[in-house]
Amino acid sequence: MKQQINTLLQETLDRLAHLEDEQELERLRIEVLGRKGEIARLFKQLGGSSAEERPALGKLLNEARSRLENAFQEAKSQTTEAAPRASRLDITLPGRLPHLGHLHPITKVGMEITEIFQRLGFEVVEGPDVELDYYNFEALNIPKDHPARDMQDTFYVTDNIVLRTHTSPIQVRVMEKQPPPVRIIAPGKAYRCDSDMTHTPMFHQVEGLMVDRKVSFGDLKGVLTIFVHQMFGPDVDLRFRPSFFPFTEPSAEVDIQCVMCRGAGCRVCSETGWLEILGSGMVDPEVFKMVGYDPEEVTGYAFGMGIERIAMLKYGINDLRLFFDNDLRFLEQF
Ligand code: DAH
Repeated sequence: MKQQINTLLQETLDRLAHLEDEQELERLRIEVLGRKGEIARLFKQLGGSSAEERPALGKLLNEARSRLENAFQEAKSQTTEAAPRASRLDITLPGRLPHLGHLHPITKVGMEITEIFQRLGFEVVEGPDVELDYYNFEALNIPKDHPARDMQDTFYVTDNIVLRTHTSPIQVRVMEKQPPPVRIIAPGKAYRCDSDMTHTPMFHQVEGLMVDRKVSFGDLKGVLTIFVHQMFGPDVDLRFRPSFFPFTEPSAEVDIQCVMCRGAGCRVCSETGWLEILGSGMVDPEVFKMVGYDPEEVTGYAFGMGIERIAMLKYGINDLRLFFDNDLRFLEQF
C-alpha cells in the first residue's frame, strides 16, 4: 500500500505539471482528491491494513493528500492568473480615442455670424483691441465731452488710449485706408467697465459696414433680414425700431420675434414678444467727412451686434457668465 500511495503521488504530480487547461485540472482533482477519488479509496483501504502498519500508512497518506492539495491549489492559481492575461489582449477591439476638445461656443457663433456675411460678399477684417480715443469716439462723431460717451463705461489706458468699447472703430480704420466701395464684416472683443448678470467687462461684437454709390436703407433691411433668417430660422420675424447712434443717421435697432414664446409674450421678452439683437443705421455724413469720403457721392449702412447676446438667444442661455466660467459640463454641450 505504501507503494500505491507513492505511485499515486508521483503520477499525479507528473500529470499536473503537463496540464494547462483549467477544466482538465478540475477533472484530475476530482479523480484524485474527490469524494470517490483515489485518495478516498486508499483511506478506505487503510481500514483493512494491520494495526501495526496503520499509523505509519495513515501518516503517509495524510501527507500525500496535503501535498496534492497544495499542488492543485498552486496549479489552479497559475492557470487563472494566466488566462485573463491572454484574454485581456483582444486585438480586434477598437482603440481608445484621445479626448478631443472643440471651439468655444462664442467662437463658434462668431464664426457663424461672419460666415453668413461672407457668403453675401463681405470681407473679414480686424482691428486693435487697444484703440486710440480718436477711432473709438471722435471719428465716430462722438466728440470729447459729448454726452453719448456716458453710454459706454470706458477703460482708459491713458487720456488718449482706451480699450475699445465697441468694434465700430474698425469702420473708420478701413475707410481711412481705402476708397469706396467698402463691404466688410469685423468680429472682435470689446471692453466696458461693467459686470453683472447681463454684462461682462470683456465681450464680443461683430461690426458690419457697406459703402458705395446709392446704398439705401432698403439694402440694410435686405441684408439683415437674410442674416436673421439664416441665424435663427426662416420663420423668425424681425422689425426695425427707430433709435439713435452718433455715427448713423437715421439709426435703427433690430428686434427679432422672441425665441422663447414666438411672439406671444413671456418673461424673457418682458411680455413684448420682441428681443433686441443689434444696432444699425445709415452712416452719418460726419463720419464720411472724417475719413475723406464725399457724402454727396457715397452712402452706406453699418450695423453692430453682440456675439454673446446672439448665442444666448440661439441656445436659450439665461446667464451670460456661463460663457466665461469655463465649466466643462456647460461647454461640452456645444
Ligand atoms: N457700436 C454700437 C454699440 O456698441 C453698436 C452699433 C450701433 C454699431 C449702430 C453700428 C451701428 O455699426 O450702426 O452699442
